[in-house]
Amino acid sequence: MVKVRFLGHAAFEIVGSKRILIDPFLTGNPAAAAKPEELEADLILITHAHGDHIGDAVGIAKRTGAKIVAMYDIANYLVENNPGITTIGMNYGPTEVDGIKIVQVPAWHSSSDGKYSIGNACGYVIELDGVKIYHAGDTFVFKDMELLNELYGPIDLALLPIGGHFTMGPKEAAKAVELLKPRKVVPMHYNTWPPIAADPEEFKKLVGDKAEVIILKPGESLEL
Ligand code: NI
Ligand code: MN
Repeated sequence: MVKVRFLGHAAFEIVGSKRILIDPFLTGNPAAAAKPEELEADLILITHAHGDHIGDAVGIAKRTGAKIVAMYDIANYLVENNPGITTIGMNYGPTEVDGIKIVQVPAWHSSSDGKYSIGNACGYVIELDGVKIYHAGDTFVFKDMELLNELYGPIDLALLPIGGHFTMGPKEAAKAVELLKPRKVVPMHYNTWPPIAADPEEFKKLVGDKAEVIILKPGESLEL
């Protein structure tokens, strides 16, 4: 059994035989459902360098010894600024870390420290204990999402941004569901701040019977 807990914004905790955090932005996150010091992790996956995604990754890695998986350039940037942490720098493609299959996949978005570009944005397809989870990161919809289903499907759970302004909104995310054909979908990256206000019920309606949409409040979880 794999348990997926929504920590608010784009942050998720995935717990099975290993503990994985994705984009653990908690400090300064108005929607945060946990404090960084409450979390344990073996691996921390980062989708891009924006502050609302790197978040507390370094602090959690220092305390727990978790390895940070990120795009090569972002991994180098983190190590240079935080000597002593362990990072695994990769790029779009598959790898395996501690028995977990991880595919870093494209995302249409920028990646920077707010000023200077650092690497590219990505999403991840993770297979933990036989369960396949896709975290899209921040992205617009793209037709190659079909490939993710062809290559790695069936995807058990897709975590998709719906907040608009910086990413897909409900309409684009519903199209993403059509392309990805996941079993279940959890919307994310909305209502954290006013510019990304969105109605998850509208998204659910647009998806219809194409997938099971599960709306999690920060702190809520589901089991796969
Ligand atoms: Ni971003
Ligand atoms: Mn973001």
